Amino acid sequence: MFERLCIIGVGLIGGSIARAARHYGLSKSIVGYGRLEDVPNLEAAKHLGVIDDYYLQIESALEGIDCLIIATPVAAVESIFALLKPYWSQQIIYTDVGSTKLSVIKAAEHVFGKVPDNFIPAHPIAGAEQSGVEACFYDLFLNRRLIITPLKNTQTNSIRKIQNFWELCGSVVSMMDVNRHDAVLAATSHLPHILAFALVDMLGHKDEQSEIFKYAAGGFRDFTRIASSDPAMWRDICIANKSEIIPLIQQTRMQLDKIECLLENDKDQQLLEIFAYANTARQRFLNQFEGNMSKSITFQVQPGGRLQGEARVPGDKSMSHRSIMLGSLADGITHVKGFLEAEDALATLQAFRDMGVEIEGPVDGCLTIHGVGKQGLKAPKKELYLGNSGTSMRLLSGLLAGQSFNTVLTGDKSLSGRPMKRVTEPLAAMGADIKTTEKGTAPLYITGQAGRLKGIDYVMPMASAQVKSCLLLAGMYAEGETSVTEPAPTRDHTERMLSGFSYPVRQEGSKVTISANGHLIAADIDVPSDISSAAFFLVGASIAPGSDLLLKHVGINPTRTGVIDILRLMGANIEVLNQRVVGGEPVADLHVVYSPLKGIDIPEELVPLAIDEFPVLFVAAACASGQTRLSGAEELRVKESDRIQVMADGLQILGVDAQPTADGMVIQGGLIGGGVVSSHGDHRIAMSFSIAGLRAHAPITVLDCENVNTSFPEFKDLVKRLGLALICEQS
Ligand code: S3P
Repeated sequence: MFERLCIIGVGLIGGSIARAARHYGLSKSIVGYGRLEDVPNLEAAKHLGVIDDYYLQIESALEGIDCLIIATPVAAVESIFALLKPYWSQQIIYTDVGSTKLSVIKAAEHVFGKVPDNFIPAHPIAGAEQSGVEACFYDLFLNRRLIITPLKNTQTNSIRKIQNFWELCGSVVSMMDVNRHDAVLAATSHLPHILAFALVDMLGHKDEQSEIFKYAAGGFRDFTRIASSDPAMWRDICIANKSEIIPLIQQTRMQLDKIECLLENDKDQQLLEIFAYANTARQRFLNQFEGNMSKSITFQVQPGGRLQGEARVPGDKSMSHRSIMLGSLADGITHVKGFLEAEDALATLQAFRDMGVEIEGPVDGCLTIHGVGKQGLKAPKKELYLGNSGTSMRLLSGLLAGQSFNTVLTGDKSLSGRPMKRVTEPLAAMGADIKTTEKGTAPLYITGQAGRLKGIDYVMPMASAQVKSCLLLAGMYAEGETSVTEPAPTRDHTERMLSGFSYPVRQEGSKVTISANGHLIAADIDVPSDISSAAFFLVGASIAPGSDLLLKHVGINPTRTGVIDILRLMGANIEVLNQRVVGGEPVADLHVVYSPLKGIDIPEELVPLAIDEFPVLFVAAACASGQTRLSGAEELRVKESDRIQVMADGLQILGVDAQPTADGMVIQGGLIGGGVVSSHGDHRIAMSFSIAGLRAHAPITVLDCENVNTSFPEFKDLVKRLGLALICEQS
C-alpha cells in the first residue's frame, strides 16, 4: 500500500501501527523520527524490529516516504506540524492518532492557516494501560473502532487510502464530524478516566488507605483499571478536550447529588430505578459491543491449484426468500426442497416465524411451511431484524405496507447504509406510511395501511428485481391494479412463483401487473442451486489451467445467466447439459473446462442479468488477455458494499491495473500478485478474491470474511475439496 511509512512517536500506539503495517504487508519500509532524548526508545524499536531505521533530522526522515503518521501525545502535535511545515509535500499523506480532534485541527490551523487537504485526522479507539514501544503488538487495532474526522477540504482519495490502511489493520472505520467525535469521546472515555483517577486519588489520600486497599476487591479493580494509564498523556487529553468534559463533570456532580439526596431520604424505590436503568443500559451496550467485536474470519489463500470434480452448490438465495414469503401467505402447507440454509434466507424465515407462521425445518434444505393465508400474519412482538439481506428488507417493506399492524425493519451495518427510498417512494405513492432515517435508510418504521393502499402504474428508474417484487407484493393488498415497468429485464422469480402458487400476474412486454384479486394456493417448491454461487466456480475453473468441473442442478433462468454469456464472450468453455424444468424454473448441469480468456467490452444489456456476478467477473477480467470494460453498472455501488470501488482497490493491491469508473471498471488483464485485501464485509467480494488465488503468484489474505455465511457457508470447504488451498482463520 505504501512504499515508505514514517512514524513520529514510536510508543505503544505508533509501535503497534508499525507492527500491524509490517504484519499485513502494508508498507515496504517503516521508519521512525524522534528527538535526541528519544534515542533509547528508537533504538529499542529498531532492535525489536518494529521500525527499519530512525532519524533525528526531519529532512532525512521524510526522504522517500509516502505516508506520515503522527503518534505523539496530542499536546505535542502543534510543534510537530511546525517542524513539518517547511517540508510539507503533496506526495505524502499525513495522518495522526490523537484522542481529541478539535485540538489537532486547531493546531494545524495555527501553524498552516488552513488545515492542509492531505492531512487526515484519525483516532484509533484502542490502547492499553502499558505504554512504550516494548508493549506494542500488531493486533492492538483488530476489531477496534477507528474514527476519521475529515474536514470539507480533505482529499477524498487520501481519506479512502487511510480508511483502507486501518481496515487492513483490522479496525472498523467510521467517519464523524470533529465536534461530535470530541463530545462522544468526552463521555465514553475522558470522563470515565477522570472518575477513575479522582476516586483512586481521593481514597489514596485517606489516612486509612492501606486498610482500604487491603480490602478492595474486584469491583474496585474493575472500576479503577484505567487509572493505571499514562498520567501525562491523560492530563494532555483532558486539557485538550476540556470544553466537552466540563459540562459532563457538572452533570455527574448533579447525578451524585441526586443519589445523595435519595439516600438521605431513604428513597429506595427511586434508587432502584436508577440502578435498574443503568443495569439494562449497560447490557444494551455489552450486546452492541459484543456484536461489533464478534469473531473475525480471514481467508488465507495459497497461490495456484485447479478446480476438478463435481459439486452441487447451495440453493438459490432469491428463490429461498420468496419461498418463505409466498409459502407463509398461502392457504395450505408448502414443502420446500433445496432451501438455502444461510444467514440471509434464515433472516427471512425468522421474520415470518416472528409474525406467527409455523415453519418446520430446515433439515437438509427441507422446510414445511404452514401457510396462514394472505390476511393471516400477526403483529411481531419486536422489530424484525433482517441481518445483511437487502432482498428481505425491500420485499418485506412492500408486503408489510398493507397489513393491519405496524412493523419495524432493521438490519446490520451494511444493510443500514443501503438506499431504501427506491422502495419507500413508490410505496408512498400507493398510500404506504413508511418512515426511514433522513438519509432514506433503515430502520424502516411501517404503519400498516390495511385496506388503504391504491394500485399504481410505476415505471422503474433502475433495473431492480427487488423494487419490482416489493411493489408486486404491495399490489396484492392494494385497490385496483398495480403495474411495474422495468427498463431492462431483471430476475422474474417473484412472478414465476406467484404463478406457481396460482396467483394471477399478467406480463405484457416489460410491464407486469397484479391486483388484490387472488389467493395463494400452497405448492411445493424445489429450489435449484444458485447460479450466483456457481459463478465463483465457473470463473475459477475458467482461469485455472487444468480445471474440469461439473456443477449440478444449477438454476439457469434466462434473467440470471448473464455470467455464462459474458464468460463465453471472453472465450470460456462452458457446456449447459441436461436442461430441464423443475417447479417452473429452468435447471441444468454446467460443465466448465479451463480455457484462456480474452478481454471484452461487456454488453450493457447483460448487466442486470449478471448483476451479482461482477465481483468474480472482475477477477476473470484480471486473468484475461487485453482489456475488459464494464459500463452501465452503477447499481454495483449500492450493493452489500460499493463493489466497484472495493474490487478496484483490492485488485490494485494485488498488482492489477483496475480503474474504477462511475458506472463500471476498466481492467487490463495481466499477472495477479499477492497481498492483503479487505472484503469490506461483503460475501461476494470475499469469495471473489479467494478465487483470484487460483491464478495469483503469491499468497492472498482476505480479511473480514464472516459474511460469506450470508449466502454460502459451505464455500470454504467446497472450494478446498475442489482444489483451492484456502485456510479459514478465526480471531
Ligand atoms: C435480488 C435482486 C438484485 C440482486 C440481489 C437479489 C432479488 O438486487 O442484486 O442480490 O432477489 O430480487 P436489485 O434488485 O437491487 O438489483
